[in-house]
Amino acid sequence: MRAQQKLFTALRGRRPGHTLPREFYVDPEIYQLDLETIFYAQWLFVGHDCEMPRPGDFITLQVGAYPILVVRDRGGRVRAFHNTCRHRGSRICSAAKGSAVRLVCPYHNWSYDLDGRLLFARDMEKPFDPKELGLKPIACESAAGYVWICLAAEPPDFETFRSAMQPYFAPHAIGSAKVAFESTILENGNWKLTWENNRECYHCSPNHPELCRTFPEAAAISGVSGAAEDPLIAEHWARMEQAGLASGFKISSDGQYRFTRMPLLDDATSYTMSGAPAVARPLSDKVSTPAIGALLTFHYPSLWNHVLGDHAVSFRVLPVGPTQTRVTTKWLVHAEAVEGVDYSVEELTKVWIATNDQDRRIIEENQRGVASPAFEPGPYNKLHEGGVVQFVDWCAATMERALAGQGALTHVA
Ligand code: FES
Ligand SMILES: [Fe+2]
Repeated sequence: MRAQQKLFTALRGRRPGHTLPREFYVDPEIYQLDLETIFYAQWLFVGHDCEMPRPGDFITLQVGAYPILVVRDRGGRVRAFHNTCRHRGSRICSAAKGSAVRLVCPYHNWSYDLDGRLLFARDMEKPFDPKELGLKPIACESAAGYVWICLAAEPPDFETFRSAMQPYFAPHAIGSAKVAFESTILENGNWKLTWENNRECYHCSPNHPELCRTFPEAAAISGVSGAAEDPLIAEHWARMEQAGLASGFKISSDGQYRFTRMPLLDDATSYTMSGAPAVARPLSDKVSTPAIGALLTFHYPSLWNHVLGDHAVSFRVLPVGPTQTRVTTKWLVHAEAVEGVDYSVEELTKVWIATNDQDRRIIEENQRGVASPAFEPGPYNKLHEGGVVQFVDWCAATMERALAGQGALTHVA
């Protein structure tokens, strides 16, 4: 309760249009409440359907204190479970990804079916009811090739998001693409700094020479206002919509997610050094329109994403501790695109590997600075940092709602 009171006071004490107070970036008790009110309460992007094409294919991840297992079952459905054995609690799957006929705990070999049922527990004396000891399920949904989980006992509505996402993403066939490369980096910064940095391009020209060759720095592109008034963007939307590609700016009523399709600079079609496609084969057989720009999405607190004509890039943000954040980036291409023939991993990944590393350094310096007792919240730039204001306002409102008991403070234990 003391921590909740501290958070409530800090939320009430923040200055609108200014960065959050120091404790939001460094305080372990507030970090724990970030988990409780946001990461254990909201839908989180975990990975792609195409990473688990066959029954038994799985991925694992850690969300705060929770080890989680996501697996495709025999019926083809992707399910999520707590990755903790019902015997004495060992983690069952330790690999980041893999494939299994059954889920076998390495400690004493209790074995679970892909739907979580306990199948085998050697020499357990009766009475013993395996039906009571299946893996604990976690809410899991798939939307347009993106897999989501929610740890809340009563997850918030997912259908509104799914039906908003579908028209933008369906043509791009992410569900049947393949991950050509993935990278995971650890940033020594609070997860909110990762997001704040993502939600503006005020920092792009001094820091991202590779990205700036193709990605426009315009405030209307990364922000949440002004896009429709920009003639270049309006012309792009009209041309794309005519080609059957949903493109206009759409944001949810609570500001948690946004979709929009933005033009790249000049004649660029992809995030490469030359602006030319990195992959010879288009990402989707259904999209042959040239220069479609980038379909930009964010979904707080775990996904931002760019879909281009030749490939897509998804970024998953997961907090590790008050001052550590893990960012996993995946580059998706057509499932039949051949490495070494249609694309080279180096060319495909060069711009975002460099950009991610530049962002990591920025965020780590930001963390060092906000950790100083001398730090006081400074003003956001009204023109360039509208997206950041929108993010911190979403965080504050989501936390306040949860504290007030209107959101979920309880989660599946
Ligand atoms: S802890 Fe899993 S089988 Fe014993
Ligand atoms: Fe950046």
